Amino acid sequence: MKSDPSDWEIHHYETVDSTNRLAASLPAWNAVRANIQTSGRGRHGRRWESSPGGLWISCVVPAPPPHPRWATLPLATGWAVMHALKELGIDGLHLRWPNDIMLGHQKLAGLLVERFHPDTAVLGIGINVSNAPETDNPELTGLTTRLADLLSPCPDVEAVTRSLLSSLSHMHRLMEKEGWQSMRDDLNASWGSHRRVACTLGERTLEGTFLGVDEDGNLLLDTGENTPLTLDASTVTLLREI
Ligand code: BTN
Repeated sequence: MKSDPSDWEIHHYETVDSTNRLAASLPAWNAVRANIQTSGRGRHGRRWESSPGGLWISCVVPAPPPHPRWATLPLATGWAVMHALKELGIDGLHLRWPNDIMLGHQKLAGLLVERFHPDTAVLGIGINVSNAPETDNPELTGLTTRLADLLSPCPDVEAVTRSLLSSLSHMHRLMEKEGWQSMRDDLNASWGSHRRVACTLGERTLEGTFLGVDEDGNLLLDTGENTPLTLDASTVTLLREI
């Protein structure tokens, strides 16, 4: 059982196109890290700005059949990233369902979980450390934050990597032993009170009150009807607070 960052085999590169792509062919407990990604991949085919100073890493974990057991892995990974950041001293984070780690209205980290092999999953994680996303893309002005603006002194990328890998090992152990129930409770609690959100599903946008995530990892949205809507992660392209 893996429990420590030293159990991970880390492959560190200066420049790659996408660490997720490189990790695709590696076995479990390997991780690919790069200083720069030239084609960093975000969710729904979006581009992920990945200039030097950030943590761009893809970690391969066992996720063998039956696959429904791992359906909540993206959310559990979000929990693990939040847990690692908390250990480094960041409080008040929440997971904007399903894959953005937010401090208030600003994004600190994102994750993209992909499957390339039936027995494993690639957990692609980007954390803004001392990079400046808005310099790379002015459209992100005001929408992102980074560790350098939140912690003094700012931990270096190696320290953030160690904390993250340790948290991912812990998360995986929990998933194997007891599922994601305790992580779900934490995630729901991190939202505090119920919040008004706009939820985009392809061409359609629904507004309502976000009630949290259910045991299967679906978003529960109260739109004023008798029963809350249950929305599958894969159908939601964007969730924003309003
Ligand atoms: C998102 O918020 O849309 C997800 C962003 C995920 C970015 C990370 S950086 C490391 C890994 N490699 C990639 O190409 N993407 C993920």
